[in-house]
Amino acid sequence: MLTKDDNDLLCRVGPGTPMGNLMRHYWIPAARSAELPTRDGAPLRVRLLGEDLVAFRTTSDQIGLLAHGCPHRGASLFYGRNEDDGLRCVYHGWKFDVAGACVDMPSEPPQCDFKKKVRATAYPCVERGGLIWTYMGPRRTPPPLPDLEANMDPESLAVTVQWACNYLQALEGDIDAVHFAVLHTGHLTPADTQEGSYLYYQLMTPVPRCVVVDTEFGTCYGACRPTDSDETYYWRIGNALLPFYTQVPSGTLAVNRIVRALVPMDDEHTMVFTMIAPPAGGYEPKPSEIPGRGYGDIERRPDSTDWYGRSRLRADASNDYLLDRDAIRRGETYAGLPDLIAEDQAVTESMGPISDRSQEHLGTSDVMIIRTRQRLLKAVRALRDRGEVPPGVDDPTVYRQRSGAVILPRSVDWFEGTRALRKAFVTHPAATVSETVAG
Ligand code: FES
Ligand SMILES: [Fe+2]
Repeated sequence: MLTKDDNDLLCRVGPGTPMGNLMRHYWIPAARSAELPTRDGAPLRVRLLGEDLVAFRTTSDQIGLLAHGCPHRGASLFYGRNEDDGLRCVYHGWKFDVAGACVDMPSEPPQCDFKKKVRATAYPCVERGGLIWTYMGPRRTPPPLPDLEANMDPESLAVTVQWACNYLQALEGDIDAVHFAVLHTGHLTPADTQEGSYLYYQLMTPVPRCVVVDTEFGTCYGACRPTDSDETYYWRIGNALLPFYTQVPSGTLAVNRIVRALVPMDDEHTMVFTMIAPPAGGYEPKPSEIPGRGYGDIERRPDSTDWYGRSRLRADASNDYLLDRDAIRRGETYAGLPDLIAEDQAVTESMGPISDRSQEHLGTSDVMIIRTRQRLLKAVRALRDRGEVPPGVDDPTVYRQRSGAVILPRSVDWFEGTRALRKAFVTHPAATVSETVAG
């Protein structure tokens, strides 16, 4: 439970809000590179942290991200002409480069130097791993990009889904260690899955013992279940990384390389970026272990140019997420929803645009959610009250993390004992992986 004030402190991200200020210290995924496929192509409406922006790819393949209202009299640069390394407002022809400089002002006399005094709000952008990243913060020279392995492999890919809710409830769904065995797989029993598989121990013991550790990047949890042996435990280890990243234990520790960014478009809309790199070490996970499973089959709506027109799924609140109660009766699914993504989206959006955390009742299984909120509150207050730069902003190496499932001897401390396996940018010998991981 949170007070209304603390809930607002965590959830409000617009310009000038404490959490908005915190997020603006970090690089932020703004869009997929594929959303701006061609140089001098159509500009893209992007709402980010409550700001209405227009992105464009220039003649020389740079990415621009400008406030959508033209500095002259406010016409939208979405209607602009993207030409010769700049975006030209179609109202009076003022033209802006990616840095926001006004490079042409045909509506003023040629001898007038007014254009030198006018700037559009512009945020620097870089592309990496199929994503366009932007920095909306206070520094002239931005900090380094975070070392997120899933976004840095030559074969990295990124998928996006838009949710109609605040980023924090989306994030809390990712670090909730218990719902998988109910919402996603509550219709199954251990006999339905292969012994020792990804799902097997979760179905054997639906409610794990959860332990949380504060780290330099945020919070890390271990969810512990018994195995068939008296000698070992099955651990699922996941991370929350400031300000809005998660690593879900959706595969095998040391092998699985995936990170999600729950990026606020505004207080009530979130763009969920899932970054995926191929499994490390050439290990072939079982189909049920494949990160992001189900993404390929999900039915999407065509993108539109609306502020909320990108990356929407067909299953949404307007059609009750294609709920099929007959599928529940037939035992095909637990919730009657078409896939894992719809299941997560339905429950998360159903809490309302911004979950009222003053009304909730958290149990022992919610310890990761509780600790992550505390970590975020600590960081946001430290910045607001003492000007402390948030964790990880100046140290990209703290993001070199992996998550996943692992079987450990009972005598081993789960956090210390997995230090090497949780490190990113490492390929472990296949023998080490097969000896130590679940599979
Ligand atoms: S409003 Fe954009 S040039 Fe006049
Ligand atoms: Fe889920």
